[in-house]
Amino acid sequence: MINEISVSGPLIREVQVLENRPLAQGACLMTMDCPEIAALAEPGHFVKIRAWPEAEDGGRPLLDRPFSIHRARDGQLSILYRILGPATYQMSLASAGSLVKVSGPLGRSLAEADLNPAAGFYLAAGGIGLAPMALALDWLGGRGAATLFYGERRGAAQVDRAWLESWAGDLSATAEASPAYGRTGLLTGPLEEALKRQIRPIFACGPTPMLAAVSDLGGRYGTPVWVSAEAGMACGFGVCLTCSLPLKGGGRFRVCREGPVLDGLTVDWGKIG
Ligand SMILES: Cc1cc2nc3c(=O)[nH]c(=O)nc-3n(C[C@H](O)[C@H](O)[C@H](O)COP(=O)(O)OP(=O)(O)OC[C@H]3O[C@@H](n4cnc5c(N)ncnc54)[C@H](O)[C@@H]3O)c2cc1C
Ligand code: FES
Repeated sequence: MINEISVSGPLIREVQVLENRPLAQGACLMTMDCPEIAALAEPGHFVKIRAWPEAEDGGRPLLDRPFSIHRARDGQLSILYRILGPATYQMSLASAGSLVKVSGPLGRSLAEADLNPAAGFYLAAGGIGLAPMALALDWLGGRGAATLFYGERRGAAQVDRAWLESWAGDLSATAEASPAYGRTGLLTGPLEEALKRQIRPIFACGPTPMLAAVSDLGGRYGTPVWVSAEAGMACGFGVCLTCSLPLKGGGRFRVCREGPVLDGLTVDWGKIG
């Protein structure tokens, strides 16, 4: 940690980038020296990051951007991110030794959900939805067995399998149209096979159709599904509803205020365009 900016609310720290490297096409891993926020991190928590000057300048984004905490250990905080637009492009330029602003940890974590980790867990990650899974595995480690189901689209950001296996433990990986991960198809295929063998709660993160399919599986097999929703955010404080998800029975869930972790069985996935 380099410099303290504020101590009220979430911690806001200006921290040093230790490493920022591409993992594959369009996906990067940024590791920062950030002991205070790392010490408080729970799975599903996110941080807001600003890797560019505060002043609006030359098309740089106005708002800090949210990112799930990928890993928090030994005083270091890691973020797994996909380069999409101006903020993530600016992040990709931050070299080791440069300073970035980090606020957090933010949001509702998996640790706050009503669950029994000792029953074992299935983790389901689609694409960059891998981001919160390392911290979830670290948190579940010692509490109960966990298997990670990872799927990605052909042509989407591909992560290196050796890197994935270095932290993923018991892993079942699929790719929609490529045998690169040993098996083609959607991750819901092997996940359903596992549910047939043993029912366990599920923690899922990924694109909306995947979260909908995993929630549907959970409903059919009678097991809880906790999802980490990474909806696009605008205001970030509950007013604009950009990040909100429709709930069965009416009402909306604001990811920025009440999330990002929520019960996937309560979401009306069919109403999301
Ligand atoms: C709680 C939370 C956790 C997140 N965790 C991660 C993470 O761990 N890793 C990661 O890569 N991203 C994560 N995101 C998404 C990340 O915040 C956005 O990718 C980022 O803000 C994009 O900023 P940008 O300026 O680069 O692109 P923008 O200019 O903001 O967006 C570029 C394009 O991508 C679309 N877009 C932006 N955000 C999203 C989104 N969330 N979902 C789908 N499309 C989007 C925009 O509509 C636009 O078309 C998370 C979002 C939330 C709300
Ligand atoms: S981002 Fe505006 S309500 Fe969540």
